[in-house]
Amino acid sequence: MQLRDRLTNAVKAAAARRGILLARYADLHRRERLAMVRHVAAERTLLLSHGEACQLLACLETSDRIAGDVAELGVAYGASAKLLSMRLPAGKHLHLFDTFKGLPRGTAADGVRFHAGEFESNLEDVRRYIGTERVHYHPGLFPATADALSDRLFSFVHLDADLYESTLAAFQFFYRRLSPGGIMLCHDYPSASGVVKAVEEFFRGKPDPVVELTGYQAMIVKLESGPINRVIGVPGNVCRDAALNSRGTAADRGHDSAPHTGVARE
Ligand SMILES: C[S@@+](CC[C@H](N)C(=O)[O-])C[C@H]1O[C@@H](n2cnc3c(N)ncnc32)[C@H](O)[C@@H]1O
Repeated sequence: MQLRDRLTNAVKAAAARRGILLARYADLHRRERLAMVRHVAAERTLLLSHGEACQLLACLETSDRIAGDVAELGVAYGASAKLLSMRLPAGKHLHLFDTFKGLPRGTAADGVRFHAGEFESNLEDVRRYIGTERVHYHPGLFPATADALSDRLFSFVHLDADLYESTLAAFQFFYRRLSPGGIMLCHDYPSASGVVKAVEEFFRGKPDPVVELTGYQAMIVKLESGPINRVIGVPGNVCRDAALNSRGTAADRGHDSAPHTGVARE
């Protein structure tokens, strides 16, 4: 073994002894992803590690041929949302949800790690940073801010809301609207007790595997077709399901991007 490899292995082993995993991330498209993450992290406070941010991009890219839009709950200063916008697949829209006033109050399930108002940001500043082309801002307390999107389909959802109630509400809203093969990536798993509780409660008894990734992320790939079976004869990214659309408007349904493959049509 060459000296350089022996040194690399020694550094990795020393880090591993301290519970830190070091991984090479420089091959092919990975180099490009990492460059993008480093660029954004230099511009903004990014609350994901570089590795987690690369995994965010990998999941987004993996879901690009799945029908539906992209969403993020937990935008804060806009760094992870910026990455999503930079890699947003053609024809898709990005929906960003945050109070932009920081975290809401937690519950007993969240312990003492987070406090109300933490990560307070500024909607106008984030809007200027990310832009508005195919990007939609939904300021306020989720899930009330998602009412107007009740008839949308999603291909990829990033959850970074830190808290039990916010995360559970996001699973309840997005899971039913996630296309088969669509991905949800949830941050702070298994590090935040409220997030763990929400994941365990929601996915108990569901067939979809919850994959714990390196860093603090859980990835769920939707297996069940659910209401999507009833999506027929409508433009892409719109879910025509009476139960889901009870509060959706005709205007919502009119606002749409290019049709996607993968959704059953008549
Ligand atoms: C850790 S920060 C997000 C960081 C961001 N994803 C990044 O990596 O740069 C968590 C955010 O979740 C938001 N949040 C949590 N629960 C929410 C809710 N129910 N409605 C709206 N925003 C919420 C907070 O306002 C906060 O900005």
